[in-house]
Amino acid sequence: MRIYDVIEKKKHGGELSKEEIFETVYRYTAGELPDYQMSALMMAIWFCGMSDRETFDLTEAMATSGETVDLSAFGDRTVDKHSTGGVGDKTTLIVAPIVAAAGGTVAKMSGRGLGHTGGTVDKLESFPGFRTSLSPAEFVNQVRTHGIAVIGQSADLAPADKKLYALRDVTATVDSIPLIASSIMSKKLAAGTRSIVLDVKCGNGAFMRTPKDAKQLAETMVRIGTAHGRRTAAVISNMDIPLGHAVGNTLEIMEAVEVLQGGGPKDLRTVCLTLASLIIGLSCQKSADEASVLAQEMLSSGKAYQKFCEWIAAQGGDASYAKDPTRFGMATCRLDIIAESDGYVAACNAATVGTAAMMLGAGRQTKEDVIDHRAGILLFKKPSDHVVRGETLATLYAERQELLSPAATLVKQALTYSPTPIVTPQTVYETVTADKI
Ligand code: URA
Repeated sequence: MRIYDVIEKKKHGGELSKEEIFETVYRYTAGELPDYQMSALMMAIWFCGMSDRETFDLTEAMATSGETVDLSAFGDRTVDKHSTGGVGDKTTLIVAPIVAAAGGTVAKMSGRGLGHTGGTVDKLESFPGFRTSLSPAEFVNQVRTHGIAVIGQSADLAPADKKLYALRDVTATVDSIPLIASSIMSKKLAAGTRSIVLDVKCGNGAFMRTPKDAKQLAETMVRIGTAHGRRTAAVISNMDIPLGHAVGNTLEIMEAVEVLQGGGPKDLRTVCLTLASLIIGLSCQKSADEASVLAQEMLSSGKAYQKFCEWIAAQGGDASYAKDPTRFGMATCRLDIIAESDGYVAACNAATVGTAAMMLGAGRQTKEDVIDHRAGILLFKKPSDHVVRGETLATLYAERQELLSPAATLVKQALTYSPTPIVTPQTVYETVTADKI
């Protein structure tokens, strides 16, 4: 097979065979194909797309390009949840213990934040001592004993995707639905759980800007998972606005604990309960109503919070911080943003707030950057909220004074106002299940 012919075929909109896809992916991973040819193929796919069959094959080729995790010893209830990335998205910290408390088995690999989006691994590493890197034996042992483990992505998992994603990142070929769907699902398939639930974010702070694109991505991923024998479903949720009030690692942990203790912001609770119900339904084989009642019960009884504290301790973290997150303390420097007039918040641009949080030190501009766990933003007002002149709209936190003012300029830009009332934005747009596609 000549890679030139594969590129030529896709350039003219042809359908690649399984053999062509597998050989291309394996040879590229082994370093036998140059980046310039793979870039040309990615761009041809960007323009011409892929059929479902090609997308399934590409996913499988990437999933089997390295190590795959065997979780069969845990039976039918293993589950992974994946978010396509957002601002203030601390759902894993809440959903994972709800599901584990309800009898699901959460064996999950999570990512770090990059750019304006946060990552679960960074949030978990805020706990002194917490280990996001466990040996395979430790991982399996923890899942067996506690029903929950969340670790960083193993370098050996889907190495083809790792290499391809880095290439797509610098060749303007990230935003292609078959390429995003196969990239995400290759890692989920390799991670070995029986059920997969995807939180597809939609809006200015997400890869998918419109509900139509988000739905197409969600449906493609659900079809991929189902075709590979995994129970798969997706939620499409709003990422025009940061989720909850807190953006930044320890601030988000404090907010997650509020939800686990029965309070917290309504939008965050809604997304978490929607995801948890869907996951419990799939992994524990419950009806939608039974799963929803069970998820609510795990929160209101405190069982999910107990499971959260148990999980943090099991992974080496100091659980006294989980029991009392005020122990994290607030960052050394702070700046309040004050409303200059009366009105209603019309918008709170997620991407801009995420960028401001990154500038404060909560996130990374490059993979090498070191983050300040206590840096971030608390938003006191969100779209549709009434505002009175002089009220505090948001507070910015940083460890260095000089970081505050440029970030404050961005947060002010992110917030727009209306003199008349605004309808409260929807939090969850839609749920996509295999039987509905
Ligand atoms: N996340 C991934 O893992 N892959 C993509 O292509 C986009 C987002």
